[in-house]
Amino acid sequence: MAKLTKTIGLSLGADLCWPICFEDIVRELNPEIRIGSDTHRFDVERVTIEPFSLQQGVKYDVVIDRLTHWYSTSREWIKKAVLMDGLYVLNNPWSVQSMEKQTSYCAMMRLGMPIPATWLVPPKEYEESADLKETLERYAQLFDLGEAGADLGYPLFMKPYDGGGWVGVNKVDDEEGLKKAYDKSGKFVMHLQAGIDPYERFVRCVGIGPQVRMISYDPSAPLHARYEEKQDFLRADDARVLRDTTLTINAFFGWDFNSCESLLRDGVWNPIDFANPCPDSQVTSLHVHFPWLVISQIRWALFVAATGRRFKQNLDWQPFFEIADTDRPFPEKLRAYGDLAERHFETERFEAFCDEHLSELPAIAWEYLGGDRAHDAVRQKVTALYPEHEVEEFTERFWQSIQDWRANHPAGSHA
Ligand SMILES: Nc1ncnc2c1ncn2[C@@H]1O[C@H](COP(=O)(O)OP(=O)(O)O)[C@@H](O)[C@H]1O
Ligand SMILES: [Mg+2]
Repeated sequence: MAKLTKTIGLSLGADLCWPICFEDIVRELNPEIRIGSDTHRFDVERVTIEPFSLQQGVKYDVVIDRLTHWYSTSREWIKKAVLMDGLYVLNNPWSVQSMEKQTSYCAMMRLGMPIPATWLVPPKEYEESADLKETLERYAQLFDLGEAGADLGYPLFMKPYDGGGWVGVNKVDDEEGLKKAYDKSGKFVMHLQAGIDPYERFVRCVGIGPQVRMISYDPSAPLHARYEEKQDFLRADDARVLRDTTLTINAFFGWDFNSCESLLRDGVWNPIDFANPCPDSQVTSLHVHFPWLVISQIRWALFVAATGRRFKQNLDWQPFFEIADTDRPFPEKLRAYGDLAERHFETERFEAFCDEHLSELPAIAWEYLGGDRAHDAVRQKVTALYPEHEVEEFTERFWQSIQDWRANHPAGSHA
């Protein structure tokens, strides 16, 4: 019988609040998990940035990574650690780097999901480069943007093919507006996408392993109020569709942690933005949903570390395409993708693991989230984001949201 220590690394940038809560709660829980004849204990450490030899070992078993999409030093360290040291990372760094919105749309269209019709157009302006002139003179066709607009209908959305964070997103109401928006789009390579507008409901689904939180979302609200508080607002069949959609996307791309936006119109959930493998995790946007995020991250990280879940370096799309190529109706295909994804994320084993080994976690998190350390974590994040004269007000507002969550989740109940 061996006593093993598993190390969970947090690879962080601007994150402040959730890592503090994560570290403190794991420390207080101090789990000792027996799997077979081994007993596992857990350390949580922050991953630092420094020169590294490609052949030096790695002390982490699991890393929750928040940098890969923009910080190449950490991304390349992670790739090395996956290839050479068997690291498990949220999320697959190759997939984060290369699977842009465009790829995610194509792949999910191929699976038959109701992604709105989308065109990709060459950019309005270019960075000078050696072969640019010859390439464009020979091959770039003059085109009438109005034809694409007429094909898609209005309103449509013009947005970068690899976008995130609402940068460069335009709602366009007519052909004149389309041409104006294109003229201003500069060097962005843009998608034009049929608008699901108006819609009946906007839901953002956050997935962490097999755990999915479905949150009603209001894109017109100020940043701190976009995630709405209401819960249990979905019928069971809608929740099933959104769970299957989210887990299918996440399993397909090797993202353990991702968020997926879907708009409901005429009874159909249309996914519109689901290549978000570094989702919002801050109390300042998640407020009442923040405890769910922290608890779910802890559960998944401990499960992965304790069970030695193997990281899948290579994505395997064939089983999804085999289902796509049958002549079953789409709802049946989606259920079949969902079942593949549930198997990928080991849902049943994960739930049994949490029941057996982490039954004290909700109560410990509940207690912690009412205490001074958690209050200070909220204040730190608010201080980093808000002007000084608003720090007090917004700290108390987000703190109150967490206390509302506590009031609605008696100690020990599920997040
Ligand atoms: N096809 C669409 N139909 C309706 N609204 C859309 C569509 N595409 C984008 N939007 C709106 O624009 C916002 C930003 O677009 P999105 O694709 O989510 O880009 P980002 O990756 O920058 O978040 C969405 O949250 C939604 O409000
Ligand atoms: Mg979005």
